[in-house]
Amino acid sequence: MSKAAIEAPRRRVFAIISHPDAGKTTLTENMLHSAGAIHLAGQVAARGQARRTQSDWMKIEQERGISVSSSVMTFEHKDLIFNLLDTPGHEDFSEDTYRTLTAADAAVMVLDVAKGIEPQTLKLFEVCRLRDIPIITLVNKLDREGLEPFDLLAEIENKLALDVRPMQWPAASGRRFRGVADLRTNEFLKYIRPDEGGDASMGAERTPMTGEAIKAHFNDDKLLAEFQEEAELAKEYGEFNIQSFREGHMTPVYFGSALRRFGVRELLDALAEFVPGPQPEKAEKFGKEIILNPTDKEVAGFVFKVQANMDLNHRDRVAFLRLCSGEFKRGMKLKTFENKTISVHNPILFFAQDRELADNAFAGDVIGIPNHGALRVGDSLSESGKVKFAGIPNFAPEILRKARTKDPLKAKHLKKALESLAEEGVTQLFKPQMGSDIIVGAVGALQIEVMSERIKTEYGLEVIFEAPPYQTARWLSCDDPAKIEDFSAKNRNTMAEDIDGDPVYLAKSSWDVGYAEEKNPDIKFLKAKERR
Ligand code: G4P
Repeated sequence: MSKAAIEAPRRRVFAIISHPDAGKTTLTENMLHSAGAIHLAGQVAARGQARRTQSDWMKIEQERGISVSSSVMTFEHKDLIFNLLDTPGHEDFSEDTYRTLTAADAAVMVLDVAKGIEPQTLKLFEVCRLRDIPIITLVNKLDREGLEPFDLLAEIENKLALDVRPMQWPAASGRRFRGVADLRTNEFLKYIRPDEGGDASMGAERTPMTGEAIKAHFNDDKLLAEFQEEAELAKEYGEFNIQSFREGHMTPVYFGSALRRFGVRELLDALAEFVPGPQPEKAEKFGKEIILNPTDKEVAGFVFKVQANMDLNHRDRVAFLRLCSGEFKRGMKLKTFENKTISVHNPILFFAQDRELADNAFAGDVIGIPNHGALRVGDSLSESGKVKFAGIPNFAPEILRKARTKDPLKAKHLKKALESLAEEGVTQLFKPQMGSDIIVGAVGALQIEVMSERIKTEYGLEVIFEAPPYQTARWLSCDDPAKIEDFSAKNRNTMAEDIDGDPVYLAKSSWDVGYAEEKNPDIKFLKAKERR
């Protein structure tokens, strides 16, 4: 059996999606802690030969000022290797956040028990839905007062059109929170407050659902009776169906408190039990559609993120490659589909806790490749250079800006700069059919800032941004191209082309999008577009 046949099936790649403040950071830290080994990237591989990995790493961080440490976090649990991909939120929210999800095989959706589905959760969920990524839900902050669990489940079902299966059932919340029922084993997992000596990082203490132990723990017969009744009722949701989960239609729901480490271990167990290993990927080779298996011999993968230097005067970048097949070895030469050869002498390996593994990687692993701008988001890399994965999608921008230079004579120069940055995936570019405006689009404010800095340092241009009369954009798709042409002709003032020349509808508001959809039922107004 090849090494890849043993190693690839052990990999699990996932991301956490949540609205800011729901507890993603706290959960991440406690997952790493609960898994027993905080193999934070960059802190790993301090032993023997593997020390080399660490120094390469630190060199990159220090000399080049690229902070890659938190992009991928690796830990082991139940003999599996988990790669947790960071999805930046808050002010760092950008298209990278979305793109990272295209490299994940599953996601944990963290909800604040008091808030349910929030706007950013919904946005990230929609991206997961594009590829039907399986989702495990954690309702967090049970140590605080929250919404009724039945209402929360109904909200998930209604807002996300996702079947829910409570795997656990909480006994109250806030100060009255007692723990959760494991609905599959019919056991009760006791919540013991940290000030009473509780630390559930190794898994909560279990007792039967009825009897003296649970009674003593509750110390409130009425509360216990209500809880037992509700837990019985919750079973009526039915059995959890792993296939439906893996197809992205059903989410198992867990309850806990990341801060109190309650339920974190159980969540890890669920990840180990349900999340699939790397799956065969559809790709193109020599112009033919192929299925690439994780255990296939040829090393191949795709770049889902490119991190630029913090110091924008440097052109150094780290491209993050998700491997899809083969056994990657340090020093290997890989080629892009455009036949650029990249010698990967200094890969950043995110899993190097094991000395033997420090110099190679398998499907489901992520490697960081330092480069000077040769690699771009969406690039396919393989040994033959003949493999091409489906493109990483572009996402409907939420920030649109009209861009111009102070000096009108430099307009052409600016256009070139913007085109090149759009090619690279830094921001998007739209050319309206009417007039000569250039519109740039982004999903987060940070993207516009990065773009503006890069145009200044790399092209010596000062860009001025103005608010255009549009708020959002949609790609048009229809089986009958004549219908799109007809729509374009009738809406010249709001039609544009993107960087690939594809038709884009620029809308003043989401109401306008809804109206256009209603009037043109045969045309799809897409929020995401697969790049070619
Ligand atoms: P994020 O990455 O999703 O933005 O959330 P983060 O983990 O930073 O958590 C946001 C706030 O919520 C933090 O409080 C954190 O301590 C708190 N929190 C996370 N999980 C739980 C939980 O299970 N129960 C309770 N009660 N709180 C939780 P903060 O006051 O904003 O920050 P800090 O001063 O505690 O760091």
